[in-house]
Amino acid sequence: MIFGKRYFEERFEKEDPWRYFSCEYENRKYIRQIEAIKQYSPHPQNILEIGCAEGAHTLMLARAFPEASILGIDISGFAVKRAKQNCEYCQNVNIVEADIIELFKQDHFPENTFDVIIQSELLYYLFPKLFIQLSLIHYLRSITKIMKNSGIFVTSNQFSIRTKPVMGIYYLILKHLGRLAQNAEYKEWHDIRCKYLTYDVKIFTKAK
Ligand SMILES: C[S@@+](CC[C@H](N)C(=O)[O-])C[C@H]1O[C@@H](n2cnc3c(N)ncnc32)[C@H](O)[C@@H]1O
Repeated sequence: MIFGKRYFEERFEKEDPWRYFSCEYENRKYIRQIEAIKQYSPHPQNILEIGCAEGAHTLMLARAFPEASILGIDISGFAVKRAKQNCEYCQNVNIVEADIIELFKQDHFPENTFDVIIQSELLYYLFPKLFIQLSLIHYLRSITKIMKNSGIFVTSNQFSIRTKPVMGIYYLILKHLGRLAQNAEYKEWHDIRCKYLTYDVKIFTKAK
């Protein structure tokens, strides 16, 4: 299945479909990612958030790093509209509706731009399209290219037996392109799905 624009528009027709604003599990996962950024890039100037959804994580990033300029990208028009409303009082946030795969294909961002690129719960959804288009390596290369030399790529993904092999392919390539600086895994209670889920919070740096 291809998780394209239509798939996400159908999801976001209903407000907050994944309960990002009310789910304690999601909130904790965002905090863990922010703590990791504070450790590896304490004073970021430019942050790119890929797949910002309705801006729940974006809002927390904006408050945690008030000096940083934060660009959130999402493919869903519904999500972007709500993210803009949710972040309307954050002067340091800009939200744009776009398909990140297309932006990377066009080399939209100049090299060495971002101190932090954060992509939470998206790798799995991008995989079919990147695989079919043979653009997986180009996608990950684009990430390392637009990162500053001191920059970090933060990625967090819930994983299961089904998704772990897919994640493994990304991480293998990323380890080849950069350096795995943090490799944390957490098993936590999901208060809405009422079961334990496991997710990682990985940090890749550009330098080998
Ligand atoms: C599962 S949600 C994760 C949201 C948020 N990052 C989080 O961790 O809570 C995936 C998000 O990525 C967006 N997305 C999916 N494919 C995309 C693409 N090609 N370009 C930009 N955003 C995309 C979806 O619209 C959705 O908001």
